[in-house]
Amino acid sequence: MSDDWIPDLSKRSGSIYETIVDALRRDVHSGRLGTGARLPTHRRLAKSLDVSLGTVTRAYAEARKLGLINGEAGRGMFVAPQSAVAEEGYPSPGESSGYVDLTLNQPTIDYRSNLLAKCLADLAQRHDLMRHLEYNQAPGEERHRQAASAWIEFSGLRVAAEDIILCNGAQQALFASLYVYGEPGGTVVTETLNYPPIRRMAEMTGQRLVGIDVDGEGMIPEALDEALRRTHARTVVCTPRGHNPTTACMSAERRQTILAIADRHGATLIEDDVYGAFYGSGTPTFFELSGGRTIYINSLAKCLAPGLRVGFLVAQPAQISRLMQPIYNTTWCPPGLTGEILVNWIEQGVIKSMLHWHKREIRKRQMIAHWIFKQYDFQMSRGCYHMWLKLPRHLSAEQLVISARQVGLLLTHSTAFSVGDAPAPNALRLALGRPATIRSLKHALQQVADLMTNHANANALVI
Ligand SMILES: Cc1ncc(COP(=O)(O)O)c(C=O)c1O
Repeated sequence: MSDDWIPDLSKRSGSIYETIVDALRRDVHSGRLGTGARLPTHRRLAKSLDVSLGTVTRAYAEARKLGLINGEAGRGMFVAPQSAVAEEGYPSPGESSGYVDLTLNQPTIDYRSNLLAKCLADLAQRHDLMRHLEYNQAPGEERHRQAASAWIEFSGLRVAAEDIILCNGAQQALFASLYVYGEPGGTVVTETLNYPPIRRMAEMTGQRLVGIDVDGEGMIPEALDEALRRTHARTVVCTPRGHNPTTACMSAERRQTILAIADRHGATLIEDDVYGAFYGSGTPTFFELSGGRTIYINSLAKCLAPGLRVGFLVAQPAQISRLMQPIYNTTWCPPGLTGEILVNWIEQGVIKSMLHWHKREIRKRQMIAHWIFKQYDFQMSRGCYHMWLKLPRHLSAEQLVISARQVGLLLTHSTAFSVGDAPAPNALRLALGRPATIRSLKHALQQVADLMTNHANANALVI
């Protein structure tokens, strides 16, 4: 099977060029097309599929960026060496422990792709690679900050490289911001449900965390106003899109209102936009709306690769040296080698393709969840892998978590996200990206739904 390859386009998965790429991926991963197999020329494939030359050119270019093929137009395109993994993918660390993990919120890692291997092979050609055994420069090498600026643009924000600090994850960026803009004994205001480490960070910086109510757009303005008046808090941490765990997204109007309230109370607004690259432009960030007066945080973790531990802190130049202090004093600098991976992926156009792949993967996974939980109340958003499953009153989230563990399934209930004293809603956050394959996700979600039915039936027997 080689240059007479004709992709099966019967399973349409988006536009024609995307369907060709998907068919190619399937055939490469199933072994139908082996490493080194020569693919039909652009012209020949266009003719056999009765599509335009442009469509095939786009499909081959995309497949090349994704590391599926190599070669050049005119000289022939060949199947690139792939990571040696089974067709079913590779068990994620959670799965290899014997559990299917719906707790850790991360983008799906495509274990069958050879993107990292390809990037490392490129880097291995570099004569100056050894310099990454030195301490890296803080706040990040110029070329890494340039690449960071290109990455942040995928979230719809244009910032100069010199306004960016490279951090060890958004986590470090958040910690540095709380440390610099908060004060011991002071208060930090945030959504009443939030990314759990924020609680520890407030504690570590000697601050009290106050949670305010959220609705379908996230932080409620009146609640923020009231909390700032009552507590005189100096900092507000807000995740305006893909809010973790509820998936809420704020409109531009709501953002203006929240910003005006923070300004009126003299509080620094820290914007956590870790899901931004999946949303892109459309709704302006707080940073843009405020003309750069707020603090902006982004990361590769939620849209690309949490293991690289690359996060970004964006602030006006005058703030950079202040924000650098906690970074110097905790990790000194960001790792240079991961900065090189980012540069390579930006330069090779890989990021765009990966984001595209993820957005489609999110859609596929959400469709399954939609179908399985159709009779329940839940929230999802196009730009995040997690979903928020609200449980009917007769089902207890805590009980479900316990029962799920007994059948090899890890779940997180809402209490884990609770920042204040108010009781957490009866809900589960399901991390749809974590299972390595669609098949294992489907099985896991079906198990959750079955448990819900069983619990409901068991409760119905109680009189
Ligand atoms: C809202 C939010 N902010 C920040 C982080 C931390 O991101 P990173 O892994 O880049 O430190 C997470 C991770 O779960 C998150 O959900």
